[in-house]
Amino acid sequence: DQNKFQAIISHCKEYGFVFPSSEIYDGLSAVYDYGQYGAQLKKNIRDYWWKSMTQMHENIVGIDAAIFMHPTTWKASGHVDNFSDPMIDNKDSKKRYRVDHLIEAHAETLPAAEGEALLAQMDNLLKENDFAGLKKLIEDKKIKCTVSGTSNWTDVRQFNLMFSTQLGSVTDEASEIYLRPETAQGIFVNFLNVQKTGRMKIPFGIAQTGKAFRNEIVARQFIFRMREFEQMEMQFFIRPGTQKEWYAYWKEERLKWHLSLGVSPEKYRYHDHVKLAHYADAAVDIEYEFPIGFKEVEGIHSRTDFDLKSHQEYSRKKIQYFDTEINQNYVPYVIETSIGLDRMFLLTICNAYEEEDLSKDGKEDSRVVMRFPAKLAPIQLAVFPLTKKDGLPEIARELMDKCKSSFFCFYEEKDAIGKRYRRQDAIGTPFCVTIDHQTKEDNTVTIRYRDSMEQERVPLDKVKEIVLNKINE
Ligand code: GAP
Repeated sequence: DQNKFQAIISHCKEYGFVFPSSEIYDGLSAVYDYGQYGAQLKKNIRDYWWKSMTQMHENIVGIDAAIFMHPTTWKASGHVDNFSDPMIDNKDSKKRYRVDHLIEAHAETLPAAEGEALLAQMDNLLKENDFAGLKKLIEDKKIKCTVSGTSNWTDVRQFNLMFSTQLGSVTDEASEIYLRPETAQGIFVNFLNVQKTGRMKIPFGIAQTGKAFRNEIVARQFIFRMREFEQMEMQFFIRPGTQKEWYAYWKEERLKWHLSLGVSPEKYRYHDHVKLAHYADAAVDIEYEFPIGFKEVEGIHSRTDFDLKSHQEYSRKKIQYFDTEINQNYVPYVIETSIGLDRMFLLTICNAYEEEDLSKDGKEDSRVVMRFPAKLAPIQLAVFPLTKKDGLPEIARELMDKCKSSFFCFYEEKDAIGKRYRRQDAIGTPFCVTIDHQTKEDNTVTIRYRDSMEQERVPLDKVKEIVLNKINE
C-alpha cells in the first residue's frame, strides 16, 4: 500500500521524526536526519536491544569499535573482492542501475511465467558472473531505461559498495581506507582482546551498535535502504560442530525479541536463504510486513570460522581459543544476529501508525495515532495544566520535576485540551495528565490513555508509578 507508506513518510516529517538530510540544499539522496522525536525513539530502540543483549545475557558483552579500520580488515573479510554489485549505465539518461533491479523491474511488467523465466535466466548469469551475457539479456529483452524510454547501454561492470577516503594527507594507495560497511568486523578483530580481558568462556557473545556505510545504487523507499545507517550486531562465539543448535537458538530468540514489543506474529515471517553468502553455512532473514510488502529487518547467519580464520591468515596472529572442557585449541565458530536500527525504527513507525476514524452520530472526526509500546515512545508522559493561571501550572511543574528523571515528560499549557491530546497522539505519547481546579481540592488528576482515549481520575501522587509500571512491562 504505497499510499499508506507515503502518509507515514509525511507524518515522520511533519512531527519531527525524520527529515531529509541537508534539506535546505534539496537533500542528499538516501541520507536522512532524525528529528527531535525520531532521535529519541531510535535511542529507545537501541537501548532496548542493548539491554536485552548485554544486561539480560550474562555471557554477552558490548563494545564500541571505531568506524575506521585498518584497510586489510576488508581484504580479510572479503569485502574488497566480493562486496559489489553488477551495474550498468544508460548512456542517454546517464543513470546507473543495478542489473538485478533493472531486470526485476522489467520482469514485473511481464506475464508471470515469462517474468519467472527471465529471473531464472538472470540468476544463472549472475551466478556465473557472465557480464556479457547479462548485457545481451538486457538488450535482447529490449529492457528500457525507465526515465527516458531509451535503451542505449554501457557494458556491465562490478561496482564496490564501500565508501573510501584518505587517511592523513598523503594520497597514495596505502593510505586509502574505507568507511565500514558492517559493524561485525570491529567485533572479529577484537575477539582476543575481549575474550582475554573479560575472561570470557565459550559460548559467549560480543554485541555492538554503530554506523555502517554502503554506497547503495538503488537507494529508495525512505529509510529502508540508506547510504549511512546503523546496525545492531552480535557475534556469538561457539565450539565448532555446535553451530546448528546455536543457529536454531538465535533464530528463535531473535523473533521472540521482536514479538516482545507487542507486534502481531502474523506480521513476521522467516525467509531462509537458499543462495548463501561466501562466509555462511546457513542464513535466515526475519521479515516484517511493511506497507510495501514483506521485507528483511534482521539477518541471522551461521558464519562458521570464516572471519576469524581469515583475520588469522591476514594478520599472521594466532586467533584461537583454548577450551578447557575438552582440552582443545580451536578457531571458534560464529552465529551472527544483525539488525538494522533504521529498519527497526521504520518497522516501529509503520506498526504504530494508525489513521483512526472517530466519526460519531454523523459528525466526522479522525485522528492519527502512533501506538508505540510505552517503553519506546519518545515522550512517555505529557503534563497539561488546564489553564495558565490559578496555580495549575505550578502543580504541573511539580509533577514534571518529580517524573522527568525517570522518563521523558512534555509540558504544554497552550491550546484547548482536546487539541493538545491529539498532538500527543500523533507523537505517540501513551499518557497525558491534566491538572484542573479539582486537583487543588482533592489532589486527583485526569489521566488520558492514548490507545483507548479513555480518561480516569487518579491520585496525583500515583501518576509516576502508573507510567513506570507500563514502561517496565
Ligand atoms: N554483518 C552482516 C550484515 O551486515 P546484512 O544483511 O548486509 O548483514 C544486516 O545487513 C542488516 O542491516 C539488514 O538486515 C538490514 O536491517 C540492515 N541494512 C543493511 N543494509 C542497509 C541499508 N542500506 N540501509 C538500512 N539498513 C540496512
